Amino acid sequence: MTDTSAAAAGAESASEAASTSAPAHDPIGHLSPTLLEGHVAFITGGGSGINLGIARAFARCGAAIAICGRTEEKLATAAEDLRGFGAQVAYRTADVRDAEALQAAVDHAVSELGDISITVAGAAGNFFAKAEEMSSNAFRTVVDIDLMGAYHAARATFPSLQRTRGSILFISASQAYKATKYQAHVGAAKAGIEMLMKDLAVEWGPHGIRSNSLVPGPVAGTEGMSRLAGPTGDDMWRRAVPLGRYAETEEIGAMAAVLSGPLGAYVTGSQYTVDGGLGLVGSGHISDAVEKALFADE
Ligand code: COA
Repeated sequence: MTDTSAAAAGAESASEAASTSAPAHDPIGHLSPTLLEGHVAFITGGGSGINLGIARAFARCGAAIAICGRTEEKLATAAEDLRGFGAQVAYRTADVRDAEALQAAVDHAVSELGDISITVAGAAGNFFAKAEEMSSNAFRTVVDIDLMGAYHAARATFPSLQRTRGSILFISASQAYKATKYQAHVGAAKAGIEMLMKDLAVEWGPHGIRSNSLVPGPVAGTEGMSRLAGPTGDDMWRRAVPLGRYAETEEIGAMAAVLSGPLGAYVTGSQYTVDGGLGLVGSGHISDAVEKALFADE
């Protein structure tokens, strides 16, 4: 599903940038096409959204790409797109909750492309729900997709990562550390991911495997944002971000490429935030009220 209004928000900011004669914004165009040459990346949820933006960045940098997800059609379309960068691409349908299916997708990727050197645990699920009202299965579903899915991806790619002295990148969220209404299930899952990331950095570091997480802010054209901004509209979200706009998926991809390849060789156990400054804003509604009271005329 594509959030056209969010995508439009991104496009609007791009045209604003153009009208102020800022240099053309091409988040992955500045990356070296050889940065990830010889690497094989396995990306869960790589058929769309942020994870596809990451796959595009890696493909631009010369990596071979394996993606998995639940919907074959999305994967096939994404694979075509990624081949446009000249990348070798493999894909398999797999639900990250199903350890065996995920293992089969990893085995397929290794047989097609060779040992995996970069794992991205990106598949996620989200919806707003009151903690006291959602069913046990609703809570468990998000924990299963996000946390168990991330563990399954790490576990299934470990033998490859051990051989390649590779890296894992977990796609996290600010709900992991910023208490948020109607996101108790997501907060629990993402907080688990953050600790898993650190535990693996310590436990698998001696194998040469690095483990990091990336916290995106609101990203245009993603199912996540269409779910989160659906009830409130995009304006509120854009106003909340100090940079005043949504990210593009490839802006998240560019940071993922830096962290996952040789430029990040000494970075492990770290959480990277790519959120336009959103995490710096504390009680936004209090700041807004003060601004209104003091500077309404400006
Ligand atoms: N509010 C409350 N409960 C909800 C809900 C909502 N908006 N959406 C789903 N649930 C509950 C269901 O009722 C069900 O619980 P029940 O069996 O007790 O009735 C449980 O969650 C599982 O839902 P189901 O639709 O069977 O799961 P699924 O595996 O088909 O889908 C979701 C998983 C629910 C996470 C779905 O939203 C999804 O597929 N999301 C993937 C994409 C996504 O969220 N991307 C954004 C990432 S940030």
